[in-house]
Amino acid sequence: MSDTGAARLNELWKRGTEFLGSEYAILGGAMTWVSERNLVSAISNAGGFGVIACGGMDTDLLAKEIAATRELTDKPFGVNLITLHPDLDNLIAVCREQNVSHVVLAGGLPSGGAISAIKDFGAKLMCFAPTATLAKKLVRSGSDAIVIEGNEAGGHIGPVSTSVLAQEILPVVQNVPVFVAGGIGRGEVIASYLEMGASGVQLGTRFVVAEECVAHENFKKAFISAKARDAVASVQIDEKFPVIPVRALKNEGTEQFMVTQREIVSKFHSGEIAQDDGQMQIEHYWGGALRRAVVDGDVQTGSVMAGQSVGMAKRVEPTQNIINELVEQAQNHLG
Ligand SMILES: Cc1cc2nc3c(=O)[nH]c(=O)nc-3n(C[C@H](O)[C@H](O)[C@H](O)COP(=O)(O)O)c2cc1C
Repeated sequence: MSDTGAARLNELWKRGTEFLGSEYAILGGAMTWVSERNLVSAISNAGGFGVIACGGMDTDLLAKEIAATRELTDKPFGVNLITLHPDLDNLIAVCREQNVSHVVLAGGLPSGGAISAIKDFGAKLMCFAPTATLAKKLVRSGSDAIVIEGNEAGGHIGPVSTSVLAQEILPVVQNVPVFVAGGIGRGEVIASYLEMGASGVQLGTRFVVAEECVAHENFKKAFISAKARDAVASVQIDEKFPVIPVRALKNEGTEQFMVTQREIVSKFHSGEIAQDDGQMQIEHYWGGALRRAVVDGDVQTGSVMAGQSVGMAKRVEPTQNIINELVEQAQNHLG
């Protein structure tokens, strides 16, 4: 490790580490069913910044998860809430009661009410921005930091790659810290985004294979044997039946999804089903599928959400090793 590299890295992500209150400006991106107390605390204890994925949890479960995470770490961590959650207001109230320091709002543009409810209790708010214009709007509305997440990422994705988002957004959004996510697997690229003006980064896929991560053994094995090209975006076959794009490892489930869509489209054209019914069936296809893969280990028909950096997740290892390796690579690159 080079001292010059270490000093340069500290300087480059200072704004990010100060914002997060962590040693390194590496966020463990919230992953539904995956980012619970064990992984979140392990990331924060290793010097990164863990984020609990609320996903579909109710208020009681979220309160328990936050309290249990606090039992495992005295370092800062955040909570990721999905804006479409029907009980969002009460989940925000749980964050207030639990004195959560950082809230990440994901899954669509947050309402003014949600933003002010979070700001009112003094938490730092982070929002995802898909364009420079929306990033600026979110900052004006009160977002304290922005996450830009490219199409290489695992899970729900936007249409634009991380490298293009970084070029479009980093030069023009400079008044708040910006964290870059999607396709990050090594420290050299972390250093590069920091040099372009990012304050930190967010990784999901690489942390799935952390020893402390509770994901089923089959889920981790699928990651370890997968290559970048196996992590594919879901395909929509008819514009009348929109599909929310998700990046996951291809398996029987992703193949069957194509067959199911074709059947639905053909039934619609022959007048057997209404468009609404068809759309509902498409939306329900993946219901419970992430849980089935992560918790039950059904990696054949479940949704094995993974980013293209999956090829760089090579072994199960302690979170501390993953973070140390990323930091060392970044330092060497800069030194
Ligand atoms: C299995 C899985 C589940 C995810 N669930 C969520 C989620 O609930 N909320 C969210 O904001 N992002 C979610 N993400 C995205 C991650 O937080 C993170 O931004 C993304 O994984 C970063 O890209 P990478 O996978 O290339 O590292 C998920 C990603 C994966 C792989």
